[in-house]
Parts: sequence; C-alpha cells; structure tokens
Amino acid sequence: MRTIFLDLGLQPITNCFLPTPVVADEVFYPLRVQFDDDSALVSLVTTLRPELMFNETYAHRASASATMRESFRSVAHHIRDTFRPRRVLEIGSNDGAFISALSRDIVVAVEPCENLAGMTAALGYRTYPVFWNLAEAETIVKCHGEMDVIYAANTMSHIPGLAQALEAVTLALSDDGVFVFEEPSLLAVITNGSYDQFYDEHAHVFSVTAAARALATCGLEVFDLEELSTHGGSTRFYAKRRGRQSHVVSERVQQAIDRELAAGLTELPTYLRFAERVQQSRTDLVQLLSELKAQGKTIISYGATYKSATIFNFCQIGTSLLDCIVDTTPGKQGKFSPGMHIPIVSPEEGLGQTVDFAFLGAWNFRSEIIAKEREFVGRGGHFITHVPDVHIIKLGATSPRTP
Ligand code: TYD
Repeated sequence: MRTIFLDLGLQPITNCFLPTPVVADEVFYPLRVQFDDDSALVSLVTTLRPELMFNETYAHRASASATMRESFRSVAHHIRDTFRPRRVLEIGSNDGAFISALSRDIVVAVEPCENLAGMTAALGYRTYPVFWNLAEAETIVKCHGEMDVIYAANTMSHIPGLAQALEAVTLALSDDGVFVFEEPSLLAVITNGSYDQFYDEHAHVFSVTAAARALATCGLEVFDLEELSTHGGSTRFYAKRRGRQSHVVSERVQQAIDRELAAGLTELPTYLRFAERVQQSRTDLVQLLSELKAQGKTIISYGATYKSATIFNFCQIGTSLLDCIVDTTPGKQGKFSPGMHIPIVSPEEGLGQTVDFAFLGAWNFRSEIIAKEREFVGRGGHFITHVPDVHIIKLGATSPRTP
C-alpha cells in the first residue's frame, strides 16, 4: 500500500531557470512523496512529463564540480580495469563526464537532452539523443550488440517508469554483463534530513532494499555496492543477471539491507517522523534567515541547485531574504531561480565584500566550496546549512556571528 508522508507544496520545474523575474506561465505541480510498503520504494506522487524537464535547455553539467569529475573518472577506470568490457553503454551521459574517461571505440551513450547529447557526439562518442526505453534498447542492441557494462549515474531515479527502464537494461545486457548504477541514498536522506533530494527529477529515491526488489522483478540481482559521499551520500550498485555465477554476491549487500531495516526504512512511521523533522527544518531556516536579515546582514545562496529550488519554494524564501544565488554554471548565470525568481550570478559577482552569510544550496559540495571560498571565510563570512539541521557552520578558529 502506498502512503503519502510528505507534502512539499507547489513546486516549479527545477531546471526551468527563467530569463526574467516576471513570468506569467510558469508551471507548478504538487510535490508530495509516498512510501510503498510492498516494494519499499519512496517516490513522488506526481511525476512530470520527462520532455518538460529533460530537453535542449537542460542546465546541469555533471562536470561542473571537481569532486564529480574525479568520481566519474575513477569509476570509469575501475569498470574498465575490473570488467574489461568490450562494450559499455551509459544511460544519461550528460556532458560526458564518465564516458570521456573511456575509449570512443567501446562506448555507446544515451542522453535525451539534445544540448548535452550534441556535446558528447561532438567529442566523437556515439550518442543517441533519446529517452531510455525498451524500443531504444532493442535498436541499440541491433546496431552494437549486447553490452558488457551498462552504467547510469543519477539517472534511474529520474525515470518514472522504473520497471520498463530496468527491463530495457536486462534486454541490452550481455549474459555475464554488469549493470552499475549510482543514486542518492535514501538512508542518507533520512539521516541528513535532506528533504531537498525530493524534486521533480527524482521520481524515486532508492534504498538498497527497494532497488534490490525492483531489480529482482526484472531478473537482476545486486552483487555488490559501494557507499559514496557524492550528492550527500549515494549508493553505487553492481548488478548481474540473477543466477549467473559470474560474480559472487558480497556480504556488503545483506549488511546494507540489515542497516536499512534497523533504521526503519521499511516502516511507515520512520517517514512520518522524517516529515515532522522537515517541518521543523523549514521553521528554523526561515527564522534564522529572518533574524540575520533583521540585523542588517547580507545573505546569498551558494549553488543554484535543483535541491535548493525545493527548499526555497517549500519555505517561500525569496529576494526579501536572499540577495542572489551564485553559481559557476554559465547557463544559469543571468537567469532567475525557478519559482522564487532569485537572480543567479557568478560567485565573483555575487560573493562581494558586503556579503555576510551564504546558504549552502550545494551543501553536497560543502568541502569543495568552503575550500574555494577561503577569502570569504577569511574576512568573516559564514556559511549556513540545513543539513543535518539548520545551523551556521563553524570553521576552524573563526567564531561565527550568531543571530
Ligand atoms: P548539484 O549538486 O548537481 O545539485 P542539483 O542536482 O541539486 O542541481 O549542483 C551543484 C551546483 O552548484 C551546480 O550548478 C554547480 C554549482 N557549484 C558552484 O557554483 N560552485 C562550486 O564550487 C561547486 C562545487 C558547484
């Protein structure tokens, strides 16, 4: 049975960075999250048509951070050296952060956002500008044969029709092929109180338990996994065809499922408690920012993330509290944030001398950003985060200004 446990209000399309702050026809939808106690899957109640989100204006760049560039390079080399694949398919290749670490001769990529597909095609990687589904899987297998490795990062969670997407993986995988995919971890979300992982693109946020059950329905089995620090805590799954002896099932899989059981991820009350914590987080964040503002402080947000769009729309935080959002992505600069219409500028422009506080919209890159913005910290600037609860981050010897 499915039960709705979290209501994050009306939300915009997170990839819809606006050219002007006045927009008449902006699309909003109700963002509610449900738990299914049969499949253990946590998913959005309303999912948008994929074409509304994944199109030629798609702004996210997997290569935008040094942390992610290194993560993709390292997993690509690990896959190449461990499984020695003759053919690798990436589903959702974005700007090529993963495939660019592999030879063009062995890679096939699928990327529905045409602006991104064009980038990897221009680099010489065979890229299909399509949504992943059974029909496309058949076409690809006809042209290139079955795949020894299928890789997807932050993509399976984006596909509302999960069963069909996994069937397509099963169809395209060679008999002893390996399906490697990584997604934000539900356990990390629940532990961190990071409700901002729920947004239009994340049709599901996976526990190991739910992922294993979904794979099992398509004849696949998780044989290993890794806990990653990316995206505030992710899980990288390694799956094979059920019954194949090609890979031994690691004890790490059952251990992770046991940890989730102990954390209550298969029980509704856990999610109801999480929803109460989310309400508290909203109250605390609005209160902190309002108090700082009343003291005459200048506050900005760092990282025009999809995650922070959820926060600002849920908490109704706009330009009365935040002067701007800074982001290094050229395609986001000069635009306005979805829903709350906060101007987005480069860090050089937005993190000027007068800024006192920066909310970490990209809290998942906390270390990278703080290391980069030494000057801001050095002159007494402070970062604010809502993870795991709302607070001003205390760094080294610098004493934070309290509200
Ligand atoms: P990401 O973590 O992918 O978040 P989401 O999936 O919620 O959009 O995006 C991080 C954003 O933060 C991206 O737009 C780039 C930006 N960013 C900076 O502006 N400066 C930085 O130093 C880093 C690491 C990221």
